[in-house]
Amino acid sequence: MKVLLVNGSPHEKGCTYTALGETAKTLNEEGIATEVFWIGTKPLSGCVGCKACVKLGRCVFNDCVNDFIARAAEADGFIFGTPVHYAAAGGAMTAFMDRAFYSAFLGGGNRAFYLKPAAAVLSARRAGTTSAFDQINKYFALHEMPIVSSRYWNMVFGAKPEDVLRDEEGLYTMRVLARNMAFLLKCKKAGIAGGVEPPRREEPRFTNFIR
Ligand SMILES: Cc1cc2nc3c(=O)[nH]c(=O)nc-3n(C[C@H](O)[C@H](O)[C@H](O)COP(=O)(O)O)c2cc1C
Repeated sequence: MKVLLVNGSPHEKGCTYTALGETAKTLNEEGIATEVFWIGTKPLSGCVGCKACVKLGRCVFNDCVNDFIARAAEADGFIFGTPVHYAAAGGAMTAFMDRAFYSAFLGGGNRAFYLKPAAAVLSARRAGTTSAFDQINKYFALHEMPIVSSRYWNMVFGAKPEDVLRDEEGLYTMRVLARNMAFLLKCKKAGIAGGVEPPRREEPRFTNFIR
């Protein structure tokens, strides 16, 4: 089994990466493989709502979002890490997640994410972590992904990686999160092997507030 660790920071080896590294080490100890996916520093457009993904089966902008979706299809779980920028997820990460989730849903029937455990990890110098945590968790809650929790909200503090390495409670929170993720993945695998049926699918209802 494999967990994809998304580094949504412009810094390839920064604070977010350091926090994800602690989850990787722990997941590996638990027998779960990991792969880091860095969103990079190239400009990333937000979703333009063109719905071309319905026909194309991928996002109309052929950049790292489509690379990610291809890898997501093979993953069993996800940890999405992002620095906090102005009390929210980084702008590039927000653009990345909007397009990844929207195109995987409309263009791929949500197969990349359906029932796969997921968690958010936040890195901040000082504040804004809980609002960003809420923001990232909302993607999981809309895509039928079990949200994995820890012994505290999944955050680390620091302006540089060395700070994160000194954040004892933050690193502890990362390790607990990783062990809980590993446990859930093993339970899911054992359940399916033991004959537990996936949930019955019901035809979706789609309404808005003017009809
Ligand atoms: C544009 C920008 C906005 C930021 N806003 C916040 C903020 O609202 N709260 C905070 O605590 N840190 C803020 N920071 C600091 C980073 O969140 C923090 O240093 C983070 O740990 C960096 O992670 P990274 O090394 O993975 O990029 C901001 C940094 C930048 C570049």
